[in-house]
Amino acid sequence: MSIIYNENSRSFKLVAGNSCYILAVVSENYLAHVYYGTALPDDDLTYLLRLDTYPFTPEVNNRDRGVFMDNLPFEYPCYNIGDYREHALSIIDKTGSAACDLRYKSHKIYDGKPAPEGLPATFVNSPDEAQTLEIVMEDKSAGLEVTLIYTAFEKLNAITRSAVVKNVGGENVKLTRVLSAVVEFDTDELDMITLNGSWARERFVERHPIRRGKQLIDSLRGESSHQNNPFTALCEHKTDEDSGKAWGFNFVYSGNFVSEAEVDQHRQTRYLMGINGTDFEWHLAPGEVFTAPEVVMVYSDSGLGQMSRTFHDLYRRHLIRGEYRDKRRPILINNWEATYFDFTAEKLVKIAEQAAALGIEMLVMDDGWFGKRNSDNCSLGDWFVNEDKLAGGLKALVDKVNALGMKFGLWFEPEMISPNSELFRAHPDWAIQTKGRALTLCREQCVLDYSRKEVRDYVYGMIKNILDNANIEYIKWDMNRQLTEVASAALPPERQRELWHRYVLGVYDLMNRLTTDYPHILLENCSGGGARFDPGMLYYSPQIWCSDDTDAIERLKIQAGTSMCYPCSAMGAHVSDCPNHITGRTVPFETRGHVAMVGTFGYELDVTRIPQADRDAIPGQIEEFKKYNHLVRTGDHYRIGNVFEDAEWDAWAFVAKDKSEALFEFVQAVSRPNRRSRRIKMKGLDAGAYYYEESSPDVKLSGAALMECGVIIPNISGDYRSRLMHFIRV
Ligand code: GLA
Repeated sequence: MSIIYNENSRSFKLVAGNSCYILAVVSENYLAHVYYGTALPDDDLTYLLRLDTYPFTPEVNNRDRGVFMDNLPFEYPCYNIGDYREHALSIIDKTGSAACDLRYKSHKIYDGKPAPEGLPATFVNSPDEAQTLEIVMEDKSAGLEVTLIYTAFEKLNAITRSAVVKNVGGENVKLTRVLSAVVEFDTDELDMITLNGSWARERFVERHPIRRGKQLIDSLRGESSHQNNPFTALCEHKTDEDSGKAWGFNFVYSGNFVSEAEVDQHRQTRYLMGINGTDFEWHLAPGEVFTAPEVVMVYSDSGLGQMSRTFHDLYRRHLIRGEYRDKRRPILINNWEATYFDFTAEKLVKIAEQAAALGIEMLVMDDGWFGKRNSDNCSLGDWFVNEDKLAGGLKALVDKVNALGMKFGLWFEPEMISPNSELFRAHPDWAIQTKGRALTLCREQCVLDYSRKEVRDYVYGMIKNILDNANIEYIKWDMNRQLTEVASAALPPERQRELWHRYVLGVYDLMNRLTTDYPHILLENCSGGGARFDPGMLYYSPQIWCSDDTDAIERLKIQAGTSMCYPCSAMGAHVSDCPNHITGRTVPFETRGHVAMVGTFGYELDVTRIPQADRDAIPGQIEEFKKYNHLVRTGDHYRIGNVFEDAEWDAWAFVAKDKSEALFEFVQAVSRPNRRSRRIKMKGLDAGAYYYEESSPDVKLSGAALMECGVIIPNISGDYRSRLMHFIRV
């Protein structure tokens, strides 16, 4: 049993893998957080709440209610009833008051995991993989019920949480904040790890000790964003890759979010995650329901590496879906960096011919094939083929590419509308905008109001028309700007602040339609590179373009940061031409291949124009990718180097689950003079088994030696060099 209710202590114990999470109903039916950490045998740990000691029972006074409210580690804290720390729920009730007070009403425990309607979420493949606890909390005065939903996975240290708010009264209620998860820690001796960056340098790992007061990362951009990823880990100061405790939180959502830690007056830490409360409102009429998206919580008692591997296992099996989930992805060549907007069908066929001969399996036609689009200043929303560029139409091109034995993929940016487009001229009010204000353009484009079904239907109709008339086997779904002047022509003034969330729900609706109607199409998400690399998107697309920065050396940081919670097999990664278009750096072709192999793998270059030596290397590179891809997709990932601390080199490994083989990769980012060869310790092998490296089968070393003493990386001359080793168990 993963979830146990102890009637005596009125506490719930959720066991997930070797972690456990305990909460309890306390006096006056408040719900308190008791413990989250390593699994313990005890049935009752409510003594940890110390409800009979100061500050709950001051020595001289009767219990001061405000003191109680401001100190109890609440499971789902409410606003304006004496708990002055950050809260999960705030409302405006029929009287105009913001006070909100939730008390335990009932609960149920059952096998399996419910699927929230219209939202992405983790799932079970069979009901015995997890158990779910639903606790109904009520605020009688406001006429609200909030169901807190917890699912504990049986074999993984993973627990998911969400909240469903229902108006059970007879009056309208306005929700002004509905977070998804709160966890209380009885200490402030913690570091906070976040993934931050910008365009072309997404998800760099940042770590700092938490301090008194509030610290947060968030997004108010309408997408999860380049700047802050909806991920946070709290960990002990001493926690490193391989030891120490860590609690990871990841939000299964693609819009505005907040991830916040607050250290209070007693040095307790409250951690909160959910939809950003800034500019959020939701009107609930009697009988209506609001569902807060899911937060995934992962606990590790053996370092950040183990935390990441749990996320990877969870997402590979319980989040990512579709036919490609467990398959090697086709090796693609994308024409963006090869041609940008300057292409014709003829040029693409030439690229495809050359690519097919080298073993590349799919041609992806990127931006510029529709409307009158020859630069990024027009035509988004006009999803019909530009026959000036593609003489004979799309089908003729796709058929030619198919005849070469290659699949064909296509780029769309379905959420966008260019002011210079037929769509905008016909429906200017379909763009998100505030009446009477100038449109803030970004990349000369606006965002479509996806809260409106007629807008989604119309765009989907255009996409369907393309998909039904040519053999498209892959879609790159892009999203290249953030939201501003957020207002909808279809919503009344009092509902305008619902648009942020309604927009995201609209995006999910369209992705759901697309993946349901076209289950054979491989969907890759993208957002100006990696601005929407989040679990919400992973639910719809098994891969996401990691970053527009394809420079292999820059990718070391981007991919290592991304791997904190996202599986490498979901990272869109390509070999591109050099000097790199973003950094101007020239990296050996081999290193570019080794780094792209960590992800989905493909090419982003004009294969007809690269140096002959690089072209000649492609078939070998493809063979190498194919040989090791099963390890990337199904093995355990170990970060061995740490480029955030030592940018001179990086290394990582993918070890088969049964430890029978391992792929080890090393990159020397900077060459240093007068330096010895390096000794780098492997991770994740079977200590008691013997292994040989494929190129020297006679040298057998124990897993223990490889992990305790390391492998020797000979002195390599030159920057940006890489080495690959394949260890096989004897
Ligand atoms: C974004 C994507 C790129 C490319 C361009 C096309 O920037 O991240 O890969 O598709 O759009 O405009």
